[in-house]
Amino acid sequence: MIHYLPLGDINARYDAEIRQAVNHVLDSGWYLRGEATRQFEQHYAQYIGTRRCIGVANGLDALTLILKAYMEMGVMHEGDEVIVPANTYIASILAITENRLKPVLVEPSIDTLQIDDSLIEQAITPRTRAVMIVHLYGRCAYTDRIGEICRNHGLKLIEDNAQAHGCTYLSPLTPNEGSLPIQGIKRTGSLGDAAGHSFYPGKNLGALGDAGAVTTDDDELAEMVRALGNYGSHQKYVHEYAGRNSRIDELQAAILDVKLRHLDADNQRRKEIAARYEQTIDNELVTCRIATRETACCYQRNGLSLNRDCVYHIFPVFSPRRDELKRYLADNGVETQIHYPVPPHKQKCYKEWGSLSLPVTELIHAQELSIPCHPAMTDDEVTQIIDLLNAFDD
Ligand SMILES: Cc1ncc(COP(=O)(O)O)c(C=O)c1O
Repeated sequence: MIHYLPLGDINARYDAEIRQAVNHVLDSGWYLRGEATRQFEQHYAQYIGTRRCIGVANGLDALTLILKAYMEMGVMHEGDEVIVPANTYIASILAITENRLKPVLVEPSIDTLQIDDSLIEQAITPRTRAVMIVHLYGRCAYTDRIGEICRNHGLKLIEDNAQAHGCTYLSPLTPNEGSLPIQGIKRTGSLGDAAGHSFYPGKNLGALGDAGAVTTDDDELAEMVRALGNYGSHQKYVHEYAGRNSRIDELQAAILDVKLRHLDADNQRRKEIAARYEQTIDNELVTCRIATRETACCYQRNGLSLNRDCVYHIFPVFSPRRDELKRYLADNGVETQIHYPVPPHKQKCYKEWGSLSLPVTELIHAQELSIPCHPAMTDDEVTQIIDLLNAFDD
């Protein structure tokens, strides 16, 4: 059986380093808000290219706390609108409704699978306060046009970077000030005003439990997020805001610090696998839509993929006979997943959207199938999957 995401195998590659980091925390006798957290926050901020990083309990909290912080800062108020792609994972939208803000769903482009930047401006109303982009499947969703729209309309740009750790963007309009070697390159997570990151175990940078982070260059926002995740308190037993408990723990921070050192190499392996899929899957019933003209503008310089990069958190293929394809692969020993079977506007928890028609989103949800793409895969496994896909319905 080729498993979709064998986390044990993925983490086993760093077994000795992880055990050493865990032992270090055990020996320290300090489990929250200590040296391991400070180290990881510093390293991750440096990696992403922001001045600040705040570890929180998970990715949903990261996004929720960003919006809650903006509300405490008076930037947003109950009932204000946040533009968000309709085809995201439900967490992006839950973070908005949790704060009693209103999500405004915008369709993705069928070529990029990311929010269609030509549809954003018409969704803006006097109550719009932010655009939340989601780097879905590990692919950069940012465009210069989105940055420009946010600047022109005075909107906050929030990134959901749960699926795209290490992804980059190249633009002459966005000079980088971080550690990346080429002028104009930035990492996702540093492209807007604030970003939420998830370190759920299955992510490209995955913990051994739940964890998340907020990155930003905005000191006021960073301080507010830190306080809100710590019972609304900057100072012990003094509570300025009605906060919550949302902190990364020392064990997860230490493990993430180990895995961060290997993230670029892991992403490179994902790209090699994806390149083989893109070049050799050849069956009219199985489309790699993510590999269309957008990928053609990705090019290599100094070993980095530029422009709108993709770190292939998920490798989606599309088929009008998706469910049959899934069964066929399972029967032949390949585990797959669907991201996602039911779009947010068709979920029971958002009954009010039941009659919305979002044809591009619905098409993606009806046809998408995620095939294995992770750094512990062997070349033989990749070959087997390609051969099976090419033989589908022969
Ligand atoms: C796009 C997206 N946003 C947010 C989240 C929420 O992250 P978490 O599961 O850590 O709360 C996830 C992952 O689960 C995700 O895929």
